[in-house]
Amino acid sequence: MSDLAMCAERLDALSPSYEAEAREKFIPIIRPESLKLLLDAAKKTRCRRILEIGTAIGFSTAWLAVTTGAVVDTVEKDETRRERALEFWKSVGIGDRINSYLGDADELVPALAAKNRYDFVFIDAAKSRYSDYLDAVYPSLEKGGAVFADNVYYLGLVKGDAYPPHKHRTIVTNMRAFLKKISDKEKFETILYDTEDGTAVCVKL
Ligand SMILES: C[S@@+](CC[C@H](N)C(=O)[O-])C[C@H]1O[C@@H](n2cnc3c(N)ncnc32)[C@H](O)[C@@H]1O
Repeated sequence: MSDLAMCAERLDALSPSYEAEAREKFIPIIRPESLKLLLDAAKKTRCRRILEIGTAIGFSTAWLAVTTGAVVDTVEKDETRRERALEFWKSVGIGDRINSYLGDADELVPALAAKNRYDFVFIDAAKSRYSDYLDAVYPSLEKGGAVFADNVYYLGLVKGDAYPPHKHRTIVTNMRAFLKKISDKEKFETILYDTEDGTAVCVKL
């Protein structure tokens, strides 16, 4: 059995208790239906270098790394979550495939995009910033590479054009701007999935 296959077995075995830990600590991690879409999309692009924006405790990071064999750069601003992620990847055996960056994605994403080329980008951090993350990564995304974004319908409030409730206004307005950008048929071939909270897969043309 290959190293990666062994890591995948360990990850599979550890996942239920890790998901339970996330629930207990109220840490949002990707839900099963979206995880399946994420891994299918990543496999399809045959990606070699992935950027993940929003690590949390490294659950999706681990799955991306073992499923694709790619190097994953991942960004998180919460030090405690990042520390837990590092421990988890070590126990799965995939720590050496993952580069973890601690800090604000607003600064880290443009800096990483200026240094690297990516063929898969998973956007999963601040919901009000998706549109800015997209602008920052677009030049470094290979043609045929994909952007995967979770929670794009944000509690169902983003669908349609109804005026959003005051406390969600910024997120809804900015997420609509993100959806408009990814519907540009000259730049992306986009599929929107009406999953748990809306998921977008956009392939760069
Ligand atoms: C939904 S969680 C990520 C879940 C993870 N991708 C998974 O599915 O296992 C979003 C994470 O993004 C982080 N985050 C939010 N805003 C951020 C920012 N501006 N810079 C860096 N990380 C941020 C949060 O601390 C949180 O841990």
